[in-house]
Amino acid sequence: MNEKILVLDFGGQYDQLIARRVREQHVYAEIRGYDHITADEIEENGYKGIIFTGGPNSVYEENSPQCDPVIFELGIPILGICYGDQLMAHLLGGQVKSSEACSEYGKTRVFVTGSMLFEGIPEENVCWMSHTDYIAELPEGFRTVAVTEKCTCAAMEDAKRKLYGVQFHPEVNHTVYGKQMLYNFLFEICGCRGDWKMEDYLEHSIERYRRELAGKKVLLALSGGVDSSVAAVLLQKAIGDDLTCVFVDHGLLRKNEGDFVEKTFRETFGMNLIRIDAEARFLTKLKGITEPEKKRKIIGEEFIRVFEDEGKKLGKMDILAQGTIYPDVVESGKGDAAAIKSHHNVGGLPDVIAFEAIVEPLRELFKDEVRKLGERMGLPHQLVWRQPFPGPGLAVRVIGEVTKEKLDILREVDAIFCEEVAGDGLENMTNQYFAVLTDLRSVGVKGDARTYGYTVALRAVTTDDFMTAEWTRLPYEVLEKVSNRITNEVAGITRVVYDITSKPPATVEWE
Ligand code: XMP
Repeated sequence: MNEKILVLDFGGQYDQLIARRVREQHVYAEIRGYDHITADEIEENGYKGIIFTGGPNSVYEENSPQCDPVIFELGIPILGICYGDQLMAHLLGGQVKSSEACSEYGKTRVFVTGSMLFEGIPEENVCWMSHTDYIAELPEGFRTVAVTEKCTCAAMEDAKRKLYGVQFHPEVNHTVYGKQMLYNFLFEICGCRGDWKMEDYLEHSIERYRRELAGKKVLLALSGGVDSSVAAVLLQKAIGDDLTCVFVDHGLLRKNEGDFVEKTFRETFGMNLIRIDAEARFLTKLKGITEPEKKRKIIGEEFIRVFEDEGKKLGKMDILAQGTIYPDVVESGKGDAAAIKSHHNVGGLPDVIAFEAIVEPLRELFKDEVRKLGERMGLPHQLVWRQPFPGPGLAVRVIGEVTKEKLDILREVDAIFCEEVAGDGLENMTNQYFAVLTDLRSVGVKGDARTYGYTVALRAVTTDDFMTAEWTRLPYEVLEKVSNRITNEVAGITRVVYDITSKPPATVEWE
């Protein structure tokens, strides 16, 4: 059996990120809510270590999330992060207080002293902080192993009992030696071997879905993007022909995309694929709609209706499968986390769905993990490394009302941009690049005549998880060529601009 780590979630937004950081070190991590597992179960499951996540509460508040103190006596190494650190101190007899004067937010200098947790890490380094509460008094048996200018206990340990706590967040990239700290915890303290591989996740998932979906007919919404493609192949491996993939061509796809998807899945994968031409249906629903969230909801709802209609033709379909990945879940609002944008495949679902259940096999994974999984399953490189494309398609890249005329213009512009970026071998420089048709018209001149046309924006971003992103510094020469081609070849465009905003504060898509 694979060794595994328990990530005990106290309501923070980084539980999946912590799990992913552990998986990156080839140790399997399982996430459980603080009130969804008992100390007995923890013992029975044979975890090599436990990580307590952060959380938005204060430990001394009534009803704040807590855990059974028996957990500290199981002899399993524990690493508490932020709230998890404070909770450990609180439950073991220390004291946690709140003080604006001690609060720290963002990159913070930290000074560490000899601890197994900080093995191989310079004494002075930089970590990421986000707290107002702090540990004012250590529990018995503990000693301080890191401080910052404001925080007298930025990390603590009771090495004898293998209990460790850090006030900062080792899981975020801003904590420069965070990876090393987690490595130390997993390998030096918990004694992990690190022999978990993506194949294990794959086998695990296939087995799980074979069992859970036995005898069920599953309908999968295939968009042709990386996520739904990987989900489709995974489920096909689990349940074979009980999976039917429905590809809704909503008329909001990029140039030639519909044909490419159909060909790939029918011919390469021999899948049970149905392509539905629903352009008219979607455009009618979107007529006169300008508000981005409304567009998303309408598209999400229409997707489901189309599936239902198709499902009726197919006979009884029990389950709806979707390629939702973890960042979609967070951004649509997980628990108390504020909703940033409703992704069509999570937040926009209508209340009444005629399926028994929804299954989302990639819900725990980040984009790069999904790609790895795709490669392991033998999906072609071109598909696995295809840039992401939002479910609502070009509707969120046409600002304002969506019309066929605008979509056709955008398709041409986008194709030119993509052609030039790929043609110049710049695909490795950027993780997503596309054009946006703004609702802004401006004056131009062509020959001797005055023109009045749309402004198109080009966007390219560099990122590894799409939670944050930098705008890509594409060479000026390429941008110049793209701009010339667009204004020469696409009627109706008078101006081309380049988006130089990172995420945050902007999102990748404009709507
Ligand atoms: P944002 O705009 O949220 O984009 O910064 C992050 C990544 O998610 C994609 N995206 C979506 N994907 N349904 C999807 O399946 C959606 O509604 C959606 N909105 C954005 C976006 O293209 C980027 O890769």
